[in-house]
Amino acid sequence: IDIKNIRNFSIIAHIDHGKSTLADRLIEKTGSLDKRQMKDQVLDNLEVERRHGITVKAQAVRMEYLYDGVLYELNMIDTPGHADFTYEVSKSLSACEGALLVVDATQGVEAQTVANLYLALENNLEIIPVINKIDLPTADIEKTKSEIENLGLDASGAILISAKNDIGTDKVLEAIIKYIPPPKINNEETLKALIIDSWYDNYKGVVCLVRVFEGEIKIHDRIMIFSNKKEYNVESISVLTPKPKEIETLHAGEVGILISNIKNIDDVLVGDTITLASNPAKAALKGFKKIKPFVYAGIYPTDTEKYDDLKEGLEKLKLNDSSLEFEPEKSDSLGFGFRCGFLGMLHMNITKERLEEEFGLDIVVTNPSVLYKVEKTDGSIIEISNPKDLPEPQFIRSILEPYVSIDVITPSEYIGSVLNLLQEKRGYQKNLSYLSANRCLITYSAPLSETITNFYDTLKSITRGYASFNYEFEGYKPSDLVKMIILINNEPIDSFSQIVHKDKAYAQAREVLAKLKEFVPRQLFEIRLQAKVGGKIIAKEEIKALRKDVLAKCYGGDITRKRKLLEKQKEGKKKLKQLGKVAISKEAFMKLLEPT
Ligand code: GTP
Repeated sequence: IDIKNIRNFSIIAHIDHGKSTLADRLIEKTGSLDKRQMKDQVLDNLEVERRHGITVKAQAVRMEYLYDGVLYELNMIDTPGHADFTYEVSKSLSACEGALLVVDATQGVEAQTVANLYLALENNLEIIPVINKIDLPTADIEKTKSEIENLGLDASGAILISAKNDIGTDKVLEAIIKYIPPPKINNEETLKALIIDSWYDNYKGVVCLVRVFEGEIKIHDRIMIFSNKKEYNVESISVLTPKPKEIETLHAGEVGILISNIKNIDDVLVGDTITLASNPAKAALKGFKKIKPFVYAGIYPTDTEKYDDLKEGLEKLKLNDSSLEFEPEKSDSLGFGFRCGFLGMLHMNITKERLEEEFGLDIVVTNPSVLYKVEKTDGSIIEISNPKDLPEPQFIRSILEPYVSIDVITPSEYIGSVLNLLQEKRGYQKNLSYLSANRCLITYSAPLSETITNFYDTLKSITRGYASFNYEFEGYKPSDLVKMIILINNEPIDSFSQIVHKDKAYAQAREVLAKLKEFVPRQLFEIRLQAKVGGKIIAKEEIKALRKDVLAKCYGGDITRKRKLLEKQKEGKKKLKQLGKVAISKEAFMKLLEPT
């Protein structure tokens, strides 16, 4: 097909604004599949693939569309939908020349709309505003248009659609052809293809979704990965229509899937460039970086004998998730486990759920922490995520922590509460603007550590669920941070140590101790709880002793019953976690580790 008849685009939207519904309509319209086939075939295909354990990831669909007597090839590239994956979204967008910005007319612009729009603009995409759900009685088209215009985008020509009822979708296809430019290429150059996504397939090894920018890839070509110089043979090339279809060549401007006997997903990271081994490109495509985790936490098996099972689970997840990091770690109170790195809280929670559900593991996840940079008095800089690795205060010149830029969109009546919350989170305001008479966009800069615990839930509750938010990594800034140690009967408990802001240490200490007091059961002896910062006790509590005699209920001398009770108590003790000299149940322990 002639390159001027190719269009590469993404659909960007806030969650639930109708991205998938519109994508389905476009696939139907382009005759790739009719409605009944759509249900039967796509789902059947998925079912079959699922049964064979093949990973399904319909990340890009190639459609053909006849417009004004000319045949067009439309490549629709999917983008991940969450703030934790900004880099991946940006790379998917950089494989396109245009984007459909879908906004729900009953909701208006939301935080994810703004974040995605900015990423699309950074990648120089032609943006087509699409207003969806116009069939609903609460749709407010004029207000939605003016909110889009307040983001700096002309919305006068926005396409009005109901993706669900198939109204206006032909106009969407027409706009893609008319307004999104075809790919630009520089014919003399050798192969340069962008890795948009890569994933692990049990049968085929690592699979890569690529966009060819220069040159072409043919089956059996010997390719080279630009950043690590590793070479592979191209074994198959395919496109999804959305049924998988094998092809021989992927030309400049096109998108497709490569299988090349790659074993390790870390060798083909998103954003890297693929070139030809025999005639490598001189420079890589711009913008590749190896993304580093932002959030760290310890993961431990509740049952210490399940350490190997946990290791196996993490290794299996890692096959398909190059951003997951882990290394063995030992904790005084939790035994052997792993220090794990994640892109954000969502990524952490997904990983935790998968370990529990797919691998049947019973695990404890410790308080998440960010990655700090510590400048030592000898001039060296170390990176730490675990409070126990923080050097003694006399060796520290300064501690830097990661900051994020946060966008919150909220109905104006909640502005006061939202600003208070952001203030509490040690944030400072960068911008506040009205999208419409009663909704505004607030931009703050705040430490990442303050937004990983409880921020989202609190924001939702103070705005009765009406606010949306998005964040983006901003950079490192120095902060007045200290290590807070928690002691139980004079023994420091490492899993409760935290790095906290100096001004917040006292409040934080009170909170942790109150929690301990609530969940640590009374024992036969008195328990002293203390919080220490820099050798000074800043808070203390005590749990009074309790006389507990399991045999108290057994009047008289039935010896077998007594023995049974004693054995039961011993069994019970095995399941307990040891905190200093204090034994505590798993449930209580998990409650204690829940972020405050
Ligand atoms: P995520 O995949 O969760 O990000 O959502 P999405 O943006 O893909 O939204 P999706 O297409 O799943 O639509 C969300 C809900 O809105 C679904 O219940 C759809 O049926 C509904 N919906 C989508 N388009 C329309 C529309 O034009 N009119 C109406 N009434 N409902 C719609």
